[in-house]
Amino acid sequence: MNPSSIVIIGATSGIAQGVARHYAQRGWNIYLVARNTDALAAIQSDLLARGAMKVESMAADLRDVSRHDEVVKGAQQFSETIGVVLIAHGILRNQLEIDYDADEMLQVWNVNATSSISLLHRFGVAMETQRSGTIAIISSVAGDRGRRSLYTYGSTKAAVSHFVAGMRGRYKPLGINVLDIKPGPVDTPMMTGRTLMLGATVETVAKDIVAAIDKRKGVLYTPWFWRVIMRIVRMIPEPIFLKIKF
Ligand SMILES: NC(=O)c1ccc[n+]([C@@H]2O[C@H](COP(=O)([O-])OP(=O)(O)OC[C@H]3O[C@@H](n4cnc5c(N)ncnc54)[C@H](OP(=O)(O)O)[C@@H]3O)[C@@H](O)[C@H]2O)c1
Repeated sequence: MNPSSIVIIGATSGIAQGVARHYAQRGWNIYLVARNTDALAAIQSDLLARGAMKVESMAADLRDVSRHDEVVKGAQQFSETIGVVLIAHGILRNQLEIDYDADEMLQVWNVNATSSISLLHRFGVAMETQRSGTIAIISSVAGDRGRRSLYTYGSTKAAVSHFVAGMRGRYKPLGINVLDIKPGPVDTPMMTGRTLMLGATVETVAKDIVAAIDKRKGVLYTPWFWRVIMRIVRMIPEPIFLKIKF
């Protein structure tokens, strides 16, 4: 049987690399997109050494939406049928760091929301005719409720979750699964210098992501207990929530 293919956008991300290693071990073809060419070359060699059948990459700053059609075309040239697309790029800014910087707030929106939605839409349309596959994106538990320390980042993730919830309905009848991945804190470069409350390793989260793609799940909380925590957080009455300093 021919190996399947996975397209990984934001392929230098810690979580994305963890997922890519699983698909390399399965002998899949892997197409990587990220902006750091040296890191891309190193990841490419590592994945081939781990068993990937074929690995190619494309360099792109994903804020540049004018290059997104090229990203999709590159992926389609790499593999006529795309098995999985994983969108993983993102930036995190604590609210206090950007409270008086509207441009920086909009940068967070450009990277996490605008560019992600542009790619989700373009891959959705491109995969329509193949009538199979999965489009997955990493949002966050931070998107489940706005809180004072993280509401710019959280709102970008909420926007993505809302968008993919709608996409899931559109693409399910076409045989394409759309997966929203909501991790809690994960030990990656994004969290360097920050508190990892109930933090998970990349390996735990990567395993959960691969299993959710295999099972064609719609929404994944990872690790699992974040589903319960966030249900409780969403239920806290607003007057009490406003008094909590987090
Ligand atoms: N770690 C956590 O606790 C956590 C929790 C929930 C959700 N998430 C989400 O998980 C995803 C992956 O993050 P991670 O934890 O793996 O962090 P990470 O290792 O810091 O990865 C973030 C990636 O985004 C890339 N990126 C940022 N801006 C970009 C741009 N303009 N163009 C291209 N690539 C860009 C970075 O590339 P460069 O290396 O070139 O900067 C980096 O590879 C993100 O969407 C993040 O919001 C993370």
